[in-house]
Amino acid sequence: MTYRSLILTIATFIATAAFAQNRIGSGAVDELYQKNCASCHGQKLEGGQGSSLIDDIWKYGSTDHDIAKVIRDGVPELGMVPWKGALTEEQIRSLVIYIREQNQLADKEAIWQRLKPEGGIFKTEHHAFKLEELGKGEGILWAIEFLPDGSHLVTQRDGILWHFKDGKRSKIEGIPEVWQHGQGGLLEVQRHPNYEKNGWIYLGYSENVGAIDRDKPAGMTCVVRGRIKDGKWVDQQEIFHVPPQFHSSGGGHYGTRFVFKDGYLFFGIGDRNREPGVQDLTQPNGKIHRIFDDGRIPEDNPFVATTGAYKSVWSFGHRNPQGLDMHPETGDIWEVEHGPRGGDEVNLIVKAQNYGWPVITYGMNYNGTPKTDKTHQEGMLQPKHYWNPSIAICGIEFYEGDQFPHWKNDLFVTGMASQELHRLVIEDGEVVHNEIVMKNQGRLRDVHSGPDGNIYVLLNSGSPRIGSVHRLVPADT
Ligand code: HEC
Repeated sequence: MTYRSLILTIATFIATAAFAQNRIGSGAVDELYQKNCASCHGQKLEGGQGSSLIDDIWKYGSTDHDIAKVIRDGVPELGMVPWKGALTEEQIRSLVIYIREQNQLADKEAIWQRLKPEGGIFKTEHHAFKLEELGKGEGILWAIEFLPDGSHLVTQRDGILWHFKDGKRSKIEGIPEVWQHGQGGLLEVQRHPNYEKNGWIYLGYSENVGAIDRDKPAGMTCVVRGRIKDGKWVDQQEIFHVPPQFHSSGGGHYGTRFVFKDGYLFFGIGDRNREPGVQDLTQPNGKIHRIFDDGRIPEDNPFVATTGAYKSVWSFGHRNPQGLDMHPETGDIWEVEHGPRGGDEVNLIVKAQNYGWPVITYGMNYNGTPKTDKTHQEGMLQPKHYWNPSIAICGIEFYEGDQFPHWKNDLFVTGMASQELHRLVIEDGEVVHNEIVMKNQGRLRDVHSGPDGNIYVLLNSGSPRIGSVHRLVPADT
């Protein structure tokens, strides 16, 4: 060992020991960063003795894997201490997520300047558009569906089904009572593909039938169908209910969203804040379900023959499916699910597959403590795309209209916290491009490819929330 390398080794050893002393074993990630990294990389990651971590210049590689590696192994000869041993793999993973979040925050203003509309016109890679407001009112609007006459139905989460027609909105009377609890309430609405013949409208919502879980009232996602006659909900039929022993008192992650395909109805139920059930096939939470459109269970569902399994399960390991749609050409079913802090996912749903929650994830806990360092595991499918930081995804839709020809068959994804509308280009079952087409116009809960070829979105802003229906229409630049 040369004299120089000996000195460096000693210096590194002292540095590691000194920093290891400050180390917080299980703290939140911002604390972890401030105590261990800020002295060299700056309190805001702006750099100092160590390089800036928010300038998007990555000397040692830009992937999560590269960044984790440099934290783990350090660059001792330049004064970056190796953290292997001092920090756990979970903590290193949470620091990578944190560095990604801080990069996004640092870029926020620049992103907004790039996407800001000018004179009411939004410019994107292929098309320019204007945003037109069609109606608004107090309350959180959740899902939108069109009827053949061009009018549309909109769910309001606290239990109202609106019919918007000719610029006016009216309430549909007599819809079922919903359980308003946390993120629950009246959620999804869709018409049957043969609506013009059979008149069926499907609703997805959270119900409480008197179940108790952990000494508190509990509820679950359910599906019914009915018809609308003269502004009234009639002919209701029960399509899918979960037995009370599986109901949860948790306030989150109800899922829903429907896809009708070949006589089947696909929909999701989130983990309902009960993670252990998600990898357990005997429980309905954390799953995509497949039933016939009248509620019967198909005999060829993947786990029908598995003892004790919940027979409607189609795929599992989902945290909170908030968007579901079928590709117009391939017929593939695409899903988006809300990750924790980081790790919102886009998945291609395949029969019987495990999507990994809560064993693998690209996110961490909301309070910044690590969840796991595992992003991959054999037997668990990878997302086709993920966001870190999260955009807080909600409804999705493949665009099928003619008004924006370059967007045909692209997948539009809404973001709530991020207030973003994303356009994903999908080729051969892979996400090959992601563009933000709109930002900062309100929290987006749903997007719909309208029969007029325009794109309809539900926006929610302010407090108390004002929900509105808007549409994107082509504009000249
Ligand atoms: C004693 C000072 C020091 C501390 C403490 C320190 N670093 Fe560093 N770090 C450096 C230096 C110096 C470099 C740059 C090496 C170079 O220029 O090649 C660096 C480089 C890095 C890089 C690579 C950046 C790139 O461009 O690829 C990352 C990532 C990083 N540090 C993360 C961390 C994290 C996370 C912590 C806390 C757990 C930490 N560092 C603590 C000094 C430090």
